[in-house]
Parts: sequence; structure tokens; C-alpha cells
Amino acid sequence: MLLQIPDLLTADEIRHARQLLADAPWADGRDSAGPQAATVKNNQQLPHDAPAARAIRQLVLAGVERHPLLLAAALPKRIFTPRINRYGGATSCYGAHVDNAIRFTAEGERVRTDVSCTVFLSEPGDYDGGELQVQDTYGSRGVKLPAGHAVLYPGTSVHQVTPVTRGHRLACFFWIESMVRSDEQRRLLFDLDMALMRLRERHGETDEAVSLTGTYHNLLRMWADT
Ligand code: NI
Repeated sequence: MLLQIPDLLTADEIRHARQLLADAPWADGRDSAGPQAATVKNNQQLPHDAPAARAIRQLVLAGVERHPLLLAAALPKRIFTPRINRYGGATSCYGAHVDNAIRFTAEGERVRTDVSCTVFLSEPGDYDGGELQVQDTYGSRGVKLPAGHAVLYPGTSVHQVTPVTRGHRLACFFWIESMVRSDEQRRLLFDLDMALMRLRERHGETDEAVSLTGTYHNLLRMWADT
């Protein structure tokens, strides 16, 4: 499932992040890529321990925690340390690749990459190209969102970032290990959750809504690995 997450970060937080990145110590993005991905990856990333990376990471993780749509769609169990990257100039693209299924944090903790998330830190007008393209069963979908917005996409997908031909594209990305491993089951839970929300908006609390909420939680109990 490809899902837009509007306003993960506020306009103030984006301004702050952009200031932090103005003179950040960018490094070669291939440092964190698996063998296949490294052959097509050509961007820059901030080292995990750079002060700007730490600060932006905190902003993003706080945004995740307060965003009900993201939480409902991803059902996070663990989040892999968010990274900040930059595309532009001679390091401007990331060809078609798949992400490694398992990532290791600095502390050696394993995180399964069920759901990928990209948070856009640049405005679309700041650069040309730089579209995130995600392949799914319907073909390839292009995503380029306003600063502060994010996109969730399945960790299982082949995806790429097309070349940035003008300006720079700043983004933060991370992976989520979901309590519910299966994309299909997660999708069913999300659809039920959203339908229940709309049902309550329209009719208020009803016996039927309570009963279906029970079904939601019983499915989550059956499928979730906590
Ligand atoms: Ni990737």
C-alpha cells in the first residue's frame, strides 16, 4: 500500500531542519547500502552521529508518534534509525533497487523492513526530477510531495529516486518493523480502522461500531507480534 502522510512535520520544524542542514557534513550514501543497492546508489547521507542528523531524527520520530494515520497504517513495532539524505549535482539519483529485509542498528538490534517511509524536507519547486518511483502491481507510481509530508510504501517493493537535474532534494527516510508482518493483513486492518472512524463521524457511537471495533482488535490480537 502506498499512502500519503500529510504534515508529518510542521512548517516551523521544516525551517529548523533546513537550517540544521545548511552546513551539514554530508557523506557518501553507499556507506549504508547492500551490495545490489550500492551499484545503483549515488546520493549523500548524514552520518548517524552528526548533530543535525540527531536533531532531525528527533523531530521526525516525534512526528511519527503524534500522527494517527501513520500509526494506523504501519502499526509500528520498531523503527530503524531515520537517515537524512541529499540528492543533487554529481550525486543525484538512486536507481531501481530493493532494500535489505533486515537492518542492524548501531546497537546491533535487528529491524525487519516491512514499511518504508520517506519524509520530504525540500519543496517540490526547489528541484527538478528527484521523484520517488515505487513499483507495485499496477505499475510504477511517482511520488513528490510538499516539504513536511511523507509517503509510506511497502518495504518489499522495487523503488528508485530519479535523477535530480536542478537544485537539491533533501529528505529523511526510515524503515518500520510492523507488529503485523503481512502487507495484506495490515491493509485489511487499516481499511477497517478508517471505515470505523468514518462510521463514528457520521452516526456517533453505536452498538454496531462497538462490535466492529471488537473485531478490529481481535484481528489485531490474532495477527500482531508484539
Ligand atoms: Ni531504498
